Amino acid sequence: MKILAIETSCDETAVALVKFTEKNNKIAYDSIGEIVHSQSSEHSQYGGVVPSIAKREHQKILPIIIKNLLRETNTLKKSSPIPISDTIREICTQMPEIIDFLEKHIVGTRPKDLHAIAVTQGPGLAPALWVGVNVARVLALLWNVPIIPVNHMEGHIVSAVMNSTHVLSPQYPVVALLVSGGHTELVLANQQQEYKKLGQTLDDAAGEAFDKTARLLGLPYPGGPEIAKLAQHARNSGLKPIAPLPRPMLQDQSLNFSYAGLKTAVRTQCDKQKNLSNNEKSALAMEFENAIVETLVEKTRRAINQYAPKSVVVGGGVSANKHLRQSIKTLLNQYPESNLYLSNPNYATDNALMIAVSGYMHRHSTADPKKLQAKANLSFPY
Ligand code: KG4
Ligand code: ZN
Repeated sequence: MKILAIETSCDETAVALVKFTEKNNKIAYDSIGEIVHSQSSEHSQYGGVVPSIAKREHQKILPIIIKNLLRETNTLKKSSPIPISDTIREICTQMPEIIDFLEKHIVGTRPKDLHAIAVTQGPGLAPALWVGVNVARVLALLWNVPIIPVNHMEGHIVSAVMNSTHVLSPQYPVVALLVSGGHTELVLANQQQEYKKLGQTLDDAAGEAFDKTARLLGLPYPGGPEIAKLAQHARNSGLKPIAPLPRPMLQDQSLNFSYAGLKTAVRTQCDKQKNLSNNEKSALAMEFENAIVETLVEKTRRAINQYAPKSVVVGGGVSANKHLRQSIKTLLNQYPESNLYLSNPNYATDNALMIAVSGYMHRHSTADPKKLQAKANLSFPY
């Protein structure tokens, strides 16, 4: 089965073409082509993602990367022109560039073998999600292929349970720590696709806290990798913290998180000490990263103690963080009965491969392309 996947939930415009085969209940995948276009330079000066800019960029970039992906993978063959129906024109009312793209590159073609289009339905930024969903809808209508809506957060779980050739089968129960720009959650799964939320952030997500703190320190967006670089420098140089930061929610018995106060504590420190030297900035970044990582690890430890999972899965953009990865590995060394599934750092942040794989897992839950809607607040677990 061959799936074209589209991801536009935030500031990465991503597409992938992936072929799946199954043997002895094992899912093998072959990524025929993948393109990820990061919009971070467009958002950098604003210190975070601006939804209207994300929408504009997705509209501009998505048709280009779909065209390039299909061309590079030799997916299209010539066919007699397919008329653009009124339904398609209606879907594209606010996206004239998509009609242009369809007329120039799509209507005179058909894919040689394409079995479905998987698209991120949510959660994410509504204006950004709609671009991917609408483009998926019009391609599904033109080519008469089914469309599979995918939950972005499940995509992050899936991206942590695959190696370079296969989707792995973690033993249940599974405890998953999901850490991204929009979400910080602990999730329990007693069996495949049966998820239950154990805890979540009460305010900012971990990635959001990284991004906002980076801005306070005058670092570009996305802030996570920038803070990680400074923190690494501080550790390598043996710098001491210039001010202790709180470890929020550790006194709280729940499996919830809270990061807004941590960011405020950094702001207070920056207000107190106006001209931080580079080393002071690095020391503050290290203390901030330590505070985030310690709270994530401690709540994960409590979830492991409570639910005795056979597998622990860690995914989402923040799971690219080296200090978090090392600390989670150290934690799991204390629990030899639990296997760790840590995202491949190259697929921790948003990508379309994870959407293709999630789409394959949900291949029997197709949606009507005429009716499919983006859902910014789509919850996870469902
Ligand atoms: O999963 P993702 O690509 O997008 C969302 O679904 O939100 O996550 C993006 C987040 C950003 O907040 C970014 O700063 C953070 O992941 N991030 C990191 C690192 N790489 C990306 N945070 C800490 N350390 C990193 N190395
Ligand atoms: Zn994400």
